[in-house]
Amino acid sequence: MVTLTIDGKEVTVPQGTTILEAAKGVDIKIPTLCYHERLNPIGSCRMCVVEIEGFTHPMAACTTPVEDGIEVTTNSERLTRIRQDSLKLILVNHPLDCPVCDKGGECLLQDLVYEHGIDQVEYSAAKIERDSSYATPLIRYWPDRCIMCLRCVTACQEIKGIGAISIKGDGYGAQVVVVDQDKCQSCGECLQVCPTGALTEDLSRYKGRTWLIERVPTTCTYCGCGCQLELNVQNDRVIAVTTKDGVGVNQGSLCVKGRFGYEFINSDERLTTPLIRKNGKLEEAGWDEALSLVAEKFSAIKEEFGGGAIGGLTSARCSNEENYLFQKFMRAAIGTNNVDHCARL
Ligand code: FES
Repeated sequence: MVTLTIDGKEVTVPQGTTILEAAKGVDIKIPTLCYHERLNPIGSCRMCVVEIEGFTHPMAACTTPVEDGIEVTTNSERLTRIRQDSLKLILVNHPLDCPVCDKGGECLLQDLVYEHGIDQVEYSAAKIERDSSYATPLIRYWPDRCIMCLRCVTACQEIKGIGAISIKGDGYGAQVVVVDQDKCQSCGECLQVCPTGALTEDLSRYKGRTWLIERVPTTCTYCGCGCQLELNVQNDRVIAVTTKDGVGVNQGSLCVKGRFGYEFINSDERLTTPLIRKNGKLEEAGWDEALSLVAEKFSAIKEEFGGGAIGGLTSARCSNEENYLFQKFMRAAIGTNNVDHCARL
């Protein structure tokens, strides 16, 4: 174990802990931007700088491991100035289009700029021309809003193990690009970790403001994993799906279906009443009529060919109880073992 002092508080933590983690453990908040709990420290933004007694230069708390006996200061005029400068350098190339940014209201950059009281940027720089090739039909990339924190690249590699995106170029002109389009699964992990509006969901664009959205926690219905997600509801319509980092078996991750496959909920093409084909045309019918017809047809088939002539396909999107009932119905009432489900359709 290692004992150090942070802002005058004595802290004892296991060797290998970073200063940032040690500070968190005693409720000392150090501002961060590129740091993300689920990723190895990236160390690209310098927001988390702290002073260590005896060291001339401030160090990044997210990448610096604790050492026995060190005295750390997380808040000082000098540190505030450094953090303000880091933010100003980011803002030099930021479009400040917050009124139309879907991330407005929950943008980490916006919050930090506010917290650090930055109302003007005295620096200027040549505009970086980044292209927007990193985009899929579901994920929109706003290259001007990218702060090169590299969370997206790291998450694609470390969490999903895919590595579809990387950095092109170096220094000031570097940008995030897709290096292997075929590998990208449109899972939205990059979108989930992006601290700004550089990556937004294309389906929900301009459909709701973050502060008006109601987030309804629920379980994904696509497969049996039971991933936890939040349906983003505004005006009685689901306009997006988000997740909470560290929550549920999925810890905030989703696949493409869970994150983007929600449009069917409000689709006008959804059947809400049974349809029966009469004279070659599908016509709306009542539930009693429809169920009686199905029962009649099943009975007739069973009588003529036996229960084995009927098969049943159920769905991972049903509950355990519903699936149990379904197989029971097929076996006991229909008399067949021909039961399968959507994972193998
Ligand atoms: Fe530590 Fe970005 S949060 S360098």
